[in-house]
Amino acid sequence: MPQTQDAEKTEYDFVVVSNRLPVDRVVGSNGRATWTRSPGGLVTALEPVMREADGAWVGWAGQPNLELPPFQNEGIHIVPVALNDYDIENFYEGFSNDTLWPLYHDVIAPPGYHRVWWESYVAVNQRFADAAAAASAKDAVVWVQDYQLQLVPKMLRQVRPDLTIGFFNHIPFPPYGIYSQLPWRAEIVNGLLGADVIGFQRVQDAANFSTAVRRLTSFTTRNPAIEVAVQGQPTRRVVARAFPISIDAKSFEELAREPRIQERAREIRAGLGNPRTVMLGVDRLDYTKGIGHRLKAFGELLAEGSVDVEDVTLVQVASPSRERVEAYMHLRDEIELTVGRINGDFGTMSHTAISYHHQGYPRDEMVALYLAADILLVTALRDGMNLVAKEYVASRFDEDGVLVLSEFTGASDELKRALLVNPHDIDGLKETILQAIAMPRRERAQRMRSLRRRVLENDVVRWSGNFLQTLEQARAGRYDRISPVTLPEELEWTIDRRWAN
Ligand code: G6P
Repeated sequence: MPQTQDAEKTEYDFVVVSNRLPVDRVVGSNGRATWTRSPGGLVTALEPVMREADGAWVGWAGQPNLELPPFQNEGIHIVPVALNDYDIENFYEGFSNDTLWPLYHDVIAPPGYHRVWWESYVAVNQRFADAAAAASAKDAVVWVQDYQLQLVPKMLRQVRPDLTIGFFNHIPFPPYGIYSQLPWRAEIVNGLLGADVIGFQRVQDAANFSTAVRRLTSFTTRNPAIEVAVQGQPTRRVVARAFPISIDAKSFEELAREPRIQERAREIRAGLGNPRTVMLGVDRLDYTKGIGHRLKAFGELLAEGSVDVEDVTLVQVASPSRERVEAYMHLRDEIELTVGRINGDFGTMSHTAISYHHQGYPRDEMVALYLAADILLVTALRDGMNLVAKEYVASRFDEDGVLVLSEFTGASDELKRALLVNPHDIDGLKETILQAIAMPRRERAQRMRSLRRRVLENDVVRWSGNFLQTLEQARAGRYDRISPVTLPEELEWTIDRRWAN
């Protein structure tokens, strides 16, 4: 990949700050380092916006102790922030992924509360804030991403009050009863309130945040803005609302339309022994994804004889993730034991029940898999959005395929014509899988058409456009133009009316 030093320009009008850079460093056998685009929803989501705005991206290159000067990669200005072994252990694996991640995902795994992790989180957030401040031109717009960097908005505002600061939380924001466990709950809320606009995936997340603000601060919340009044400073307004993220939907459809991808999809099916039904799961190997629930349901269906291994195959792609965090190590053992058992019990010489892959694949291969799959199983126990569901829908230009989607994903707020499931209800999940297998072509097409309309309309360009437009309006003080949080009827019961009105 082309890489050039970025000596001439050091300050930008638009700066994105995220824990991970949108590129990965790969060292070849000749010892030379090159950069490849890294996988993951966040990168997919922001890359097109960055290119258009000629902005800079501040983040970590994903490896320890890598001190690199700013450079350009495929037209994007990259400003690397170095993390050493201690930072990775305490800030990244510790506080980000063993405290905040489980806490924000309904404590599916128990969060660890360790003061050294917190201290490291503060120190590393400060380093990101300093790097972002240095990369920002006067009056620049800075967009901070995700739970690893929740203190950055306040830290940035302290040194650069001229900036317009946005923050987007890609993962859920938990209900106060859970959030209140966090010993540093007030510090995090105040860190976020340094932003002008705080974006969440779902209306419920924004409402949970505003409840936390009311419980932990004296600020008044007047939908859609929070009035942040600190003694000795002018009152600021902070907008907190939902901006459900999406994908670059057209590019998935375009790939899916390529004959070579369709040929690859046929090859994949043939390689599986041409079963009548191919089911697919695509996840980072994470305990929030409900992979075990999915396997349990499939294993029981095989055991009861409701499905036959010759007819139905499950392809499970589980990409490696956070492998040094204990909960992830346990999960891998558990999943691989279960896969081995199911395959051992039900596989035949010609058909394997589960085709399991502990690796990530390039987008071409993923789209071929989406086309090869009659059913996509998304059974997350909690998920901010779940972009895999949207990728599947975007790829199915043939208006075929059935999406089985957990109610506990952000995507389920939008993708109502999927077969919605509660993954904890194993019997319900089994019935839904059988319903998906038996669904007539006509119904599959009707449902997929409606899902596609939603995903193609509300793509990532629209998402970032909405967020950045709101940020512009906040900068201009035009709060009257910012639409308030509107509540889907079913949420009204659960949300504090003061925020809702
Ligand atoms: C989720 C988070 C991202 C994160 C990604 C991969 O999608 O919202 O912020 O980058 O997982 O996790 P990792 O720990 O490998 O960055």
